[in-house]
Amino acid sequence: MKSMKNFFSKGNNTVDERGLDLNNLPKHIAIIMDGNGRWAKKRGLPRTAGHKAGVEALREIIKVSSELGIQFLTLYAFSTENWKRPTEEVSALMQLLIYYLRKEISELHKNNVKIKTIGDISRLPQAAQAEIYSAIELTKNNDGLVVNIALNYGARDEIINAVKNICQEVKNDKININEINEDIFSKFLYTKEIPDPDLVIRPSGELRISNFLLWQIAYSEFWFSDIFWPDFDRKCLIKAIIDYQNRDRRFGGIK
Ligand code: FPP
Repeated sequence: MKSMKNFFSKGNNTVDERGLDLNNLPKHIAIIMDGNGRWAKKRGLPRTAGHKAGVEALREIIKVSSELGIQFLTLYAFSTENWKRPTEEVSALMQLLIYYLRKEISELHKNNVKIKTIGDISRLPQAAQAEIYSAIELTKNNDGLVVNIALNYGARDEIINAVKNICQEVKNDKININEINEDIFSKFLYTKEIPDPDLVIRPSGELRISNFLLWQIAYSEFWFSDIFWPDFDRKCLIKAIIDYQNRDRRFGGIK
C-alpha cells in the first residue's frame, strides 16, 4: 500500500504524485515497438543491436505495466510483412524471441503474467513455436497482466481469416447470415478474448498503423512520440497514460 501522502484526490479519482489517475488506467495498451534499427544506426551498431536493446525496453515496460495494474499489453513484435527483411535479421529476431522467453519466463510467471499471442505462429521456426507454447502453457492460469505478443500478425490477414471462417459456419448452417454483427465478427479474430485497446502507442516518429489491429482500434486513443523504442522507458509510458487520461472519449456520442 502506497503512503497516502503520494496521492491527492481529484473529484472521485486518485491521482498520484506523477499526475497519474490510478482509477482511470487504460485496460488495454497496444504498442508498435518501432525504431530499433534507427536507434542502432545512430550509434554505428548493427540493426540486431537495436532489437536487443528493444528487448530491454520491453522488459521494463512489462514490469511497469504489471506494477500499475494494466490488464492487457499487446506488443507488435513481428508482422506478416516483416518476412520481407533480410534473412539474417528475421533469424536474429526469432533467436531473440526464443532467448527472451527462455530467460524471462520464470520471472514473468512469478509476477503472475499470462502470455498470449496473436498471429499465425505456425510459420515461425519450430524452436520459437515450442518456446511460445511452453510459455502459454506455463502461464495459462495466471490472472495478472496479459502480455499478448503479435507474431507473424497482420490485421488484414486476420480479417480475411475471420471472413473465411464465418463463411464456413454459414455454409455449415451454424450461423445465419442475418445474425452476423460486430460482436460475432469479433469472436472470429485472434483477439476474441481481449477487449479493444484503449491506448495505442507508436514511438519512433512514424505516424501510421502498419496493419496493426485495424478492426480493434476503431475507438482507441493514439499516442505518438519521436523517441526510438529502445529509449522508451517508464517515464514515457506514464506520460502516454497521463495524456490518455486527459482525452475526452466519446465513442461517437456526446457528453
Ligand atoms: C521495429 O523496429 C521493430 C521490430 C520489427 C521488431 C520488434 C522486436 C523487438 C523489440 C524484440 C523482439 C520481441 C520479443 C517479443 C522478444 P525497426 O527495426 O523497424 O526499426 P526502424 O524503423 O528504425 O528500422
